[in-house]
Amino acid sequence: MESQCELCFRGLHYPRAAEKKEVLMTGDPLIYLNGDIVETADARISPFDRGFLWGDGVYEVTPCFGDELYRLEDHIDRLYRSLRYVRIDPGLTPAEMTEATEKLLAANADRLGANAMYRVGHWITRGEDTPSMRVHAAGPGTVMIFFRPVDTAAIARNYAEGVTLTVSSVRRNPPECVETRAKVTSKMNQILAELDAASRDSLPLMLDLDGNIAETSVANFFLVRDGVVWTAPERNILEGVTRKVLFELCERLDIPLEEKLFTMYDVAQAEECFITSSAICATPVSSVDGFAPKLDIPGPITTRLIDAFAADTGYDFRQLDVAAE
Ligand SMILES: Cc1ncc(COP(=O)(O)O)c(C=O)c1O
Repeated sequence: MESQCELCFRGLHYPRAAEKKEVLMTGDPLIYLNGDIVETADARISPFDRGFLWGDGVYEVTPCFGDELYRLEDHIDRLYRSLRYVRIDPGLTPAEMTEATEKLLAANADRLGANAMYRVGHWITRGEDTPSMRVHAAGPGTVMIFFRPVDTAAIARNYAEGVTLTVSSVRRNPPECVETRAKVTSKMNQILAELDAASRDSLPLMLDLDGNIAETSVANFFLVRDGVVWTAPERNILEGVTRKVLFELCERLDIPLEEKLFTMYDVAQAEECFITSSAICATPVSSVDGFAPKLDIPGPITTRLIDAFAADTGYDFRQLDVAAE
């Protein structure tokens, strides 16, 4: 299988124009920064911002299909749960944060590609550090909201071919150290796992400290055994918004689902495996440490879920003419 570009997968790689038609824009999207809507080139953040110095912040990524912010309310809810946990005051209520996001979408109306897809980032830090470097002395918080184009062709390829995972020697941070349910900007735990897996041309599947499957560095993990969807309980993972949607879709489609602890033994027996994350919905996994799922990808349950996601988001990656890109 062609090796996957990890940067494309994570949306960090701006595709070449020849590769991607629908992300072409009339200009870079505008950014919201601390109450102002500005050009990227005019956005200024202090070099002493604690987000830069210490990774002291939280974030959200909401997918925007066409001009539809998908499940924004769920993302804003989780953002404020993360903010409360790390005790950062963004200076905006959740309603004001939602309003700022919608205003930015409107301001970018003529800059976003038609039918393109974007990741909408909410990045919030504790603000400027003082010479004392005391956490309580920092602030006010820095609030940035931005749009980044998504390489939908790479996602479409992953839907067709599946992604390759390998188990990383880097374990997921236990919640006793930093709560995994909080979406914090200090991602060195996952970045080390990504570097480790990249050396094997794969994406990392991370275990908890007890050796149970937790999640990947950027997505929740699911398998199907005997027709039942299994996923790790909330304790050692980020409670993904897409995971929540998947629970709803399973209920709607009458697909049995269980949250339970499981190990690589169960992955070896799986009929299907897939991962979920905001920009990718449900993406099939082609192998984990060389174990291919028993059924060809995408398996029947994964396909039903991908169909349901496409109906819910109004966006079907499989319709993209990847060959023509
Ligand atoms: C570690 C981790 N797990 C799971 C997810 C999936 O979360 P969501 O479905 O809310 O995008 C992400 C997304 O960034 C993540 O970083």
